[in-house]
Amino acid sequence: MAQVAPENSIGVFDSGLGGLTVLREIHRLLPQENLIYFGDTARVPYGNKSAATVIRYSKEIVQFLLARNVKAIVVACNTASSYALETIKQMTDVPVIGVIDPALRALVRTASPQAIAGLIATRGTIQSGAYPAALQRLGGKQKLVTQPCPLLVPLIEEGYTEGLVCELIVRDYLEPLVRQGVGYLILGCTHYPLLAPLIRRLYPQFHLIDSAEETAHELAAVLANASLNRKEGTARIELYVSDMTESVRMLKDRFFAGKVDIFTEAQLAEY
Ligand code: DGL
Repeated sequence: MAQVAPENSIGVFDSGLGGLTVLREIHRLLPQENLIYFGDTARVPYGNKSAATVIRYSKEIVQFLLARNVKAIVVACNTASSYALETIKQMTDVPVIGVIDPALRALVRTASPQAIAGLIATRGTIQSGAYPAALQRLGGKQKLVTQPCPLLVPLIEEGYTEGLVCELIVRDYLEPLVRQGVGYLILGCTHYPLLAPLIRRLYPQFHLIDSAEETAHELAAVLANASLNRKEGTARIELYVSDMTESVRMLKDRFFAGKVDIFTEAQLAEY
């Protein structure tokens, strides 16, 4: 493994800009940490692609991050975490953190074993079976009911997070979960925290589980454990995208309104 030190950046990636909700939480919790984010905006969405394709794309991004000598990698995409986490862990010795285990740890910690949890996510994440497998591995006894929500990512990417259209689509997806007695709702896609205010208003009875905050806490613990946490200084934040468009610029400000040192297009090498 290349030598890594606390000064090195944390690498974070997503299929697009949804992972900026995770980057935002990392920066909030660890404001001194240097961050490199890659959003694969040329190839988003991953949620309707095959496992083999998501794994190939993820490997290319991980190569990009490792070439910049990152000290840890956060897979800030549920679909990539579902399909590619084990492959990524085999590519490097630096800590690799996905978004699924942190969310489920929060569920196991806060919900009773009898609780029913709803999982909303992309089709890929649901089809992979990664959430039920991880819940079992973590010893959670909660019942998991799943609901793929393929219309939510395009809606959010178009800037819709409130209003009639959003409300209708969100109700259509969530009413079946209400009927099944869901008490906890896992936002199993990194875009969905942007819909949290609407979901809270429509369904105040749901206890929302947002993996972004949980993932940031897990990262903090992992870095401290490995003595890789940067203790002081101002963060350097670099954002790279595989396609720079007007809507990418707009979404960047919407997802992450923090200070950014570099915001530019970068091409990936084929893995
Ligand atoms: N960020 C992806 C996820 O969390 C959703 C967008 C996509 O389908 O690529 O699953």
